[in-house]
Amino acid sequence: MADLYQLREAPEEPLDCIYILQSTDSDPIDKLQFTAKERRPLKAKAEALGPRGEAGELISGECPLALAHRVTFVGVGDERELSHSKLREALGRVMRQATKNREYQIGLGVPVRVNGLTDAESRAFALLEASISDYTFDHFKSKKNEFEKIDGLHIMPLAGESEEVLEQRLQRVRLMRTAKQLARDLGNRPSNDLTPDALAAAVKTMTEEVKGLRVTVLGVKELQKEKMGGILGVSKGSIEEPRLIVIEHRPKKPKKSVVLVGKGVTFDSGGISIKPAAGMGWMKYDMCGAATVVGVMRAIAEMDLPIKIIGLIPAVENMPSGSATRPGDILTMANGKTVEVDNTDAEGRLILADALHFAARFNPDVVLDFATLTGACVVALGHEAAGIMGNDTALVESLRTLGEQTGERVWPLPLYDEYLGYLKSEWADIKNAGNRAGGVVTAGAFLKQFVPEKVSWAHLDIAGVAYHEKEHNGLPKGASGFGVVLVSSFLENLLS
Ligand code: BES
Ligand code: MN
Ligand code: ZN
Repeated sequence: MADLYQLREAPEEPLDCIYILQSTDSDPIDKLQFTAKERRPLKAKAEALGPRGEAGELISGECPLALAHRVTFVGVGDERELSHSKLREALGRVMRQATKNREYQIGLGVPVRVNGLTDAESRAFALLEASISDYTFDHFKSKKNEFEKIDGLHIMPLAGESEEVLEQRLQRVRLMRTAKQLARDLGNRPSNDLTPDALAAAVKTMTEEVKGLRVTVLGVKELQKEKMGGILGVSKGSIEEPRLIVIEHRPKKPKKSVVLVGKGVTFDSGGISIKPAAGMGWMKYDMCGAATVVGVMRAIAEMDLPIKIIGLIPAVENMPSGSATRPGDILTMANGKTVEVDNTDAEGRLILADALHFAARFNPDVVLDFATLTGACVVALGHEAAGIMGNDTALVESLRTLGEQTGERVWPLPLYDEYLGYLKSEWADIKNAGNRAGGVVTAGAFLKQFVPEKVSWAHLDIAGVAYHEKEHNGLPKGASGFGVVLVSSFLENLLS
């Protein structure tokens, strides 16, 4: 991906093109940091080209400044209706246009604000999206599209935005981008490449690249010792051994303690309760919750947050075979509860349950879990927000608010006690699946049974937002890296 710079003065070599986003409401040039000498010719040029800022507009001409060869105005429409999606789509158009024109060094001015956000919030979103909008996953392609890629992205300062402030913003963007890219890459890797053990190896590699993380991997023996019947039960049908990956960030004097749990099903065939063939390939994305946790751990280590943060990733492959767990089987979980496996396709909650119980030993104040848990969540919210449930309304509300800011939205769903009744088992303490009613919330109710006592907990069902089957709102096909920015911001905010 392109290197990020700030564009203060004319570079030695003129840029290939500067792109200026424009709404229908105001003059974009006034809102960017130009000297009076630059402003006049640029305005004259704009006048001559006559862009109106309408959504989808791309109007290009020779650049009158020494800065660049060309200038392109990119319309975003009415600024009062500018959403995260619309801005992301406009930024995507910039990168596509530059790639098509073989422009390698480009400038970017974003003098527009997402409706409802502060300048700082909008800036954080826009700069990150711009810097990640040329993301592609071509690891398995013989022919890379490397040479068409943009080398340098030069951000034009806003009027009044000091060099110091912009540099701080870019620094955070660089680190968030790397973390989000890592989450996408992990998500996009196919299941024969990213097995549970390979996921553990990828985490180890990541922790060697940054300071401040330690990783421990529990294998079959250790899982047996911990009596993790959920993780062992789900993985029984696969030749790939399960892992519990523990990533620890332990600063000297931590202000808080947080555990993040991510569902790491590297492939979900459904097991004996096998899924239909059509679309089954998408279940390579069933470890996106784990990917979010890995991305966040990377980001917070780089930020060196003074919070104890533990990432827990139960990693398994859910397969049917002669050794697989069957519907009707009863598993004894790490916390001693017994679970009747009514449907082997409700595997995520079984592995998360053991990991949630394991979280207790880190004395967390807050536990968050991330999982592509239910198709029902996709039915309820589509691809526009993750479902969020929990035992602490203030926690849920703070994540919802942050979701609106970061564009990684979450929407609350209830966890009424009555839902537990939907999971009554004749033979065991609880069964792992109800009937169709309340598919999202019964999964949440199940997890709640395994959450350590007296901790604030929230469960994020990311099934609809973790990956996309085709390009969506300017997000690429495949893994989105959902949650990395939301959760990193949440953790930063815990300090204030
Ligand atoms: N991984 C799936 C959920 C899923 C579905 C994620 C669609 C992304 C897109 C999960 O393990 C699953 O199969 N859930 C079942 C639960 C049911 C059997 C109670 C479901 O949602 O159908
Ligand atoms: Mn499943
Ligand atoms: Zn699954």
